[in-house]
Amino acid sequence: MNGRPPIARVSATARFLPDQVMTNADLERLVDTSDSWIRERTGIRERRIAPDDITAVDMGERAALGALAKAGLEPSDVDMIVVSTATPDRLLPSTACEIQSRIGASRSCLAFDISAACTGFLYALSIAEGYLAAGRGETILVVSTEKMSSIIDWDDRATCILFGDGAGAAVVQPSRNGEGILASFHRSDGDLAPLLQRPVGGAAKPLTEESLRNREHMLLMKSGREVFRSAVRSMAHAGNMVMEEAGLDVDRIDLMVPHQANSRIIESTARYAGIPMDKVFVNLHRYGNISSATIPVCLDEAEEEGRLVPGSVVLMTAFGAGLTWGAMALRW
Ligand code: ACO
Repeated sequence: MNGRPPIARVSATARFLPDQVMTNADLERLVDTSDSWIRERTGIRERRIAPDDITAVDMGERAALGALAKAGLEPSDVDMIVVSTATPDRLLPSTACEIQSRIGASRSCLAFDISAACTGFLYALSIAEGYLAAGRGETILVVSTEKMSSIIDWDDRATCILFGDGAGAAVVQPSRNGEGILASFHRSDGDLAPLLQRPVGGAAKPLTEESLRNREHMLLMKSGREVFRSAVRSMAHAGNMVMEEAGLDVDRIDLMVPHQANSRIIESTARYAGIPMDKVFVNLHRYGNISSATIPVCLDEAEEEGRLVPGSVVLMTAFGAGLTWGAMALRW
């Protein structure tokens, strides 16, 4: 294997999923859809939905504390908190500052949010890696927390079947024993922003009674089919770029963790990358698409199931609104 020595490793992960399960049968009662359509077109069987009193900050706090406990660290050890979320509790201040306060991280830590939709976790890991490379800290907390149910138009059958709620967190520390990020590749294409957006509610188009009535502040997907095609193309390309940069043959990949949006997207991406499905982690049927929380939740479950052990090489790929996409190879 060629490539550069890793700088940053993931030393612990944790996840939080709300208890409440919403099945496809539950959705049949809300919109004109069917369990068989959802399963055949997406692979999703159920998703978790957070109750009104559990927000993105609440879920992120639990995942963050879980990851720190697993790493044997205290909140006061954290030098930086990077949160990715498409569903902040409020627009200002950042979710990261709220999580900093909740977990009791010290004031010598800096905290901020990034906006990269479903690709947010991989972007945040790269930011953490860069901060460590600059020698600015030793312990970084990456938290991805998403209450997608709060921005879904529950009358829109094209989107409401796809998403769920949850959070995942990772502690990122300097590499040791060759563990850590081997290569990464991230891109975005703002020309494709109209494909997937919340058109109203920002400073350009503040909420009005009319926009609220028309649900223009909710997630709107223009063409699921085009998002689908872009996702496969971009994740396959990013995965190949990462394997090339790290000098990894495909048979050196122990586990692929793709973003979980649609089982057909996952299968096509794995096929392009030449990775057999028995090496691909899938939990989409249980959670749907949890946006940027997807990958850390997968990593945490994969480790718990013994599919990621020290030394395993994992290839992660993601795409989301922006459009944004990326891939990362990491030795566990
Ligand atoms: N139940 C039943 N029928 C439906 C449903 C539904 N829930 N949703 C759409 N349909 C209908 C459509 O109206 C259409 O009917 P028509 O042929 O009479 O016009 C038909 O099913 C086919 O619709 P398509 O959109 O062409 O279906 P497709 O096979 O592309 O599947 C899907 C749709 C599942 C959305 C797929 O395109 C997809 O997964 N795309 C990727 C979407 C995605 O991942 N988005 C999230 C990005 S991540 C982020 O950053 C937020």
